[in-house]
Amino acid sequence: MLSIGVDIGGTKIAAGVVDEAGTIIAATTRSTPATDPELIEAAVADAVVELRAQHDVVGVGVGAAGFVGADRRTVVFAANLAWRHRPLADELERLVSLPVVVENDANAAGWAEFRFGAATEAEHMLMVTVGTGLGGAIVLNGELVRGSGGFAGEIAHMTAVPNGQWCGCGRRGCLEQYTAGTALVRTAKRRAATGDPLMGPLVQAAGGAKKEIDGPLITRLAQQGDPGARELIAEIGSWLGEGLASISALLDPEVIVVGGGVSAAGDLLLDPAREAYATHLTARMHRSIAPFEVAQMGNRAGIVGAADLAR
Ligand code: BGC
Ligand code: NA
Ligand code: ZN
Repeated sequence: MLSIGVDIGGTKIAAGVVDEAGTIIAATTRSTPATDPELIEAAVADAVVELRAQHDVVGVGVGAAGFVGADRRTVVFAANLAWRHRPLADELERLVSLPVVVENDANAAGWAEFRFGAATEAEHMLMVTVGTGLGGAIVLNGELVRGSGGFAGEIAHMTAVPNGQWCGCGRRGCLEQYTAGTALVRTAKRRAATGDPLMGPLVQAAGGAKKEIDGPLITRLAQQGDPGARELIAEIGSWLGEGLASISALLDPEVIVVGGGVSAAGDLLLDPAREAYATHLTARMHRSIAPFEVAQMGNRAGIVGAADLAR
């Protein structure tokens, strides 16, 4: 039984036909049209129509970066996108004439890691995606936890700092403002603006324009060994570890999978996270410390997870 998975990213819409073993057997992409929900839907539909012309599929799963209702049809709210009570599944079903389910993007990625990637041995998994935003997926007793309204796992919007930085969700001090790409870029730009010499190579790599500094650039420089970029990544890693320690007090996961664009930095992100986690975890002398694993499915996770959840 084949299904189509779609991952709606900030710059790219990636879609694929996925089999029951989680393998993508055909794929296509579209660029994400600005932020207009209707244009995004049209682009998603276009990609789906292309794929289904060649393959017999039973349905479509779509991963979206926002609060997806428990009926898996509506994007109710998105902190970083223009979606408000958007009936995404209805719209897409009208356009492609196939059953559509909508999933939170991180839930889709987390499900892919649980079924086919870094956490196949686990029963209880916590997945975080560290990208532009901070995504979360909770799997307990082998099941994806959705909560009463569908909004469980919104790790991004747990309070990290009372009255801290403003968040795209309209509140202050959310964890996303300290641990995701948003935080990375904001801190880099601020430090660059003060003339901090450690930010010099970064500004240079951005062609001399501070405002061109973005997450992928910081990650790349960190991988190349730049101390300033490494420091920026380590700082969000520490925040991440501390946040995950709090979450673990509540959920007691067996393994923590870290994915998303910034996870390309690997141990540069994970080591500070592990250290902060071990420091802040309650009863740490009396329990096993959950290992932090880098996600294995890479940028296929969203497609594979959404497709699998659609089946
Ligand atoms: C949103 C989540 C999403 C995450 C990653 C957060 O800001 O609230 O719904 O999963 O970003 O895209
Ligand atoms: Na989620
Ligand atoms: Zn928030």
